[in-house]
Amino acid sequence: MPENIVLRGKVNLGAGTVVEDNVVLGHREDGVVDIGENSLIRSGTVIYSGVRVGRNVEIGANVTIESDVVLGKNISLVNNTIIRKGAIIGDNVIIGYMDIKRGRDGLEGSETTEIGENARIRSGSVIYWGTKIGGNSMVGHNTIIREKTIIGHDSYIGSLVMFEGDSEVGNYVGINAQSHITKFSKVGDYTFIGPICVTTNDNKITHRRAGHGRNLVGFTTGMYVRMGAGITVLPGVYFGEGCIVAAGSVVTKDVPPYKVVMGVPAKVVKDAPRDEIMEQG
Ligand SMILES: CC(C)(COP(=O)(O)OP(=O)(O)OC[C@H]1O[C@@H](n2cnc3c(N)ncnc32)[C@H](O)[C@@H]1OP(=O)(O)O)[C@@H](O)C(=O)NCCC(=O)NCCS
Repeated sequence: MPENIVLRGKVNLGAGTVVEDNVVLGHREDGVVDIGENSLIRSGTVIYSGVRVGRNVEIGANVTIESDVVLGKNISLVNNTIIRKGAIIGDNVIIGYMDIKRGRDGLEGSETTEIGENARIRSGSVIYWGTKIGGNSMVGHNTIIREKTIIGHDSYIGSLVMFEGDSEVGNYVGINAQSHITKFSKVGDYTFIGPICVTTNDNKITHRRAGHGRNLVGFTTGMYVRMGAGITVLPGVYFGEGCIVAAGSVVTKDVPPYKVVMGVPAKVVKDAPRDEIMEQG
């Protein structure tokens, strides 16, 4: 029999669900915790009242799930994940993912993965270890966000987006469907990236050649940048505050602030307006 399990309020456990030692379910005497069938809750995990968990969910060790969180079915939360109050996680999502070798090397859970208050992760997405997603932010379907990506609050990441990891995204940012955000990138507050934006970080394409994987450099945007659909960005480009990049451009050089660039390669064509920004909107 498992030891040291604390149950507060009403706790509904589905058939076949296993709870390990030192688990706390519920924090209010008048609250309810619902866990679906055939789920597993590993030791040291704390689940607050008002949480609803679907079936076939695996919740790793030392996970915290704050009040009123909703988890769909077939979800995996790896050790040390934190899900903040009111967040909604869709079916078939993995949070805290790491490859098997890293787990075998004992590194599993060495970095917390965190989903912010009222954030929403739609079904099919995979969020790797050490990634943090801020409050009220949203991630679409079947998106992959690799390790140590930090995303601010009130931002959205569309469906089928690929983040290669080790990147930062600010607040009130929009990154649209099917974009590829290369490793070591930084996206400033209020920036908009249109669909199918492809960014790169290895200018010499060193695949299986000397220097492979070294000298990788991502892109950076200042605040209020707007990038149209289908843009390709070469390594290390800096997008100045408030610039606009025309759809279909190939951006090879830094873009000055408040300029419009266009074409292949992208060139400055005119000034960008400064008066259209709606903060907090
Ligand atoms: C860059 C952009 C903002 C410029 O808009 P604008 O100032 O209204 O420009 P205009 O439509 O007056 O076009 C000016 C000229 O540039 C050309 N042009 C416009 N966009 C272009 C583009 N992406 N690539 C190449 N040429 C372009 C126009 O054909 C026009 O040429 P002309 O003077 O020979 O007729 C706009 O064209 C654009 O690319 N928007 C991005 C749309 C997008 O991807 N949105 C994402 C959300 S869905």
